[in-house]
Amino acid sequence: MEDCGGGVTQPPSGQALAAPLVRNVDGFAAAKASGTKVVMVTAYDTWSARLLADAPVDCLLVGDSAMMVVHGDKDTLGATPELMAMHTRAVVRGAPGKFIVADMPFLAARKGEAHALDCAALLMRAGAHAVKIEGAQGHTHVIRHLVESGIPVMGHLGLTPQWVRRFGGFKVQARAPEDAGQLKEDASALEQAGVFALVLECIPEALATQVTASLSIPTIGIGAGPGCDGQVLVLHDMLGLNPDFRPRFSRRFAEGDALFREGAGRFADAVRKGTFPDKGESF
Ligand code: KIV
Repeated sequence: MEDCGGGVTQPPSGQALAAPLVRNVDGFAAAKASGTKVVMVTAYDTWSARLLADAPVDCLLVGDSAMMVVHGDKDTLGATPELMAMHTRAVVRGAPGKFIVADMPFLAARKGEAHALDCAALLMRAGAHAVKIEGAQGHTHVIRHLVESGIPVMGHLGLTPQWVRRFGGFKVQARAPEDAGQLKEDASALEQAGVFALVLECIPEALATQVTASLSIPTIGIGAGPGCDGQVLVLHDMLGLNPDFRPRFSRRFAEGDALFREGAGRFADAVRKGTFPDKGESF
């Protein structure tokens, strides 16, 4: 069906929201033009996607952070195209109405255009509306090829976790003037290559603000300060589901870990007291 809308849609009725939600790539440009902040959060499974389906967030990111958050790895390098497609399919099942971006995993954009196309095809066929690719130098031609092939691409600069071994850890990037200059060049190259939005991760606030002002596409920050056009957080950090991980750039908008423990404790208590199951819960 032809879509003549501006790429944004009103949130479900009953929700007190100021801003309409982004629902396609044009919506990202419209959000930047109107000064409306883009809100993105990660999702990895049907259960959380279902809960987020009616939440006033614009966009779900099936991040390769799944490797750390869901699978318990120390970094994201273990993600494969097949695993990302499986998580993407699960998220699409839970939130079919949301704009869903899937991460191209480690090295997927570094083996040439054909390999990148195959990986992107897997993710798009799993239901993603766009893919996200980390970095720029050495593979902007691949990004351009995907865009020209009809695949919307989100860029990602700064602390790109797939480079963690090269960076020597998860550290703030582009503090030195020459690194900041390189990041600005990379951002401009990505815009030229056709990315529709750009994640800026863990870079100085002033740099993120400058990059944001210099681009016509929206920037979505994580640890990049309030000057970005939007913000993204890892769901489990945002909901306080990870008691041992409290990065400075994140904020716990709920105390999910306490809720989990409390629920499990109440269940255990009821079983031991013999109050669960009761007559109504039995056949
Ligand atoms: O994989 C991920 O979750 C990400 C976000 C942190 C931007 O890339």
